Amino acid sequence: MIGKATRLARLFRSDGRAVVIALDHGQFKGAMPGLGSMPEIVRRVVDGGADGIILNAGAVESCVPIYAGRCSLIVRVTGASTDANPAFDYHRQILSVEEAVTLGADAVIAMGFLGSAGEAPSLSLMADIAESCRAWGMPLVAEMLVAEPSKFHDVPTIALGARVAFELGADVVKAYGAGEPAFAEIPKSSPLPVLVAGGAQSADPAEMARQVIARGAAGVAFGRTVFGTENPTQVVGSLVKVVHGKGG
Ligand code: 5RP
Repeated sequence: MIGKATRLARLFRSDGRAVVIALDHGQFKGAMPGLGSMPEIVRRVVDGGADGIILNAGAVESCVPIYAGRCSLIVRVTGASTDANPAFDYHRQILSVEEAVTLGADAVIAMGFLGSAGEAPSLSLMADIAESCRAWGMPLVAEMLVAEPSKFHDVPTIALGARVAFELGADVVKAYGAGEPAFAEIPKSSPLPVLVAGGAQSADPAEMARQVIARGAAGVAFGRTVFGTENPTQVVGSLVKVVHGKGG
């Protein structure tokens, strides 16, 4: 597991925490505000001091000169379902772990769905990807989503997902639930570090980060609440200060 340990050390600082910015939404939602130019938004979040970015494979090449050597790369390996498809849990593998290695990835990310018809195929796929990740020394981030929209932030189900991610062989959990007072149950349910997704928008992303860190998260993996703002560099800087402590 030397490869996994080496790559994880590029993502998490010595304090065990990370500020990751998710910039992969185009695969599901198209050209969202803030994601018009991928090199530009990558430059802005890297300038803010992000520890990692999440990209789809197609965006990697044009962004390499901006992030390489400054920030780690997490590549998404599942997808194939857009907002135009009501079956939002229809995910398939879209990139092999081997190809993620050739892209220079420090980790791969896959989605797992809970409580829908997509549950069994996505968890089975997660286990298959975990097996490839062990073979390649590649860390696996499991993004565990509650499929029923009204239960998207349901802490017991997210906590179940965090535990399942550990049992299936993932190395890191990415989860929603940031605004929930019971959030602490999620990191307690699994020995894996938990990175918290941000949701559509937050009036104060730094305050949201402060709350989840106090409740046991290892960091954030915010997307829209960063790239959808006027000054993503400043927002990332404020997240770095909160997650890593004064001065960043
Ligand atoms: C793309 C994703 C994002 O990586 C993740 O949901 C985090 O994004 P946000 O903070 O915008 O919720 O899965 O759809």
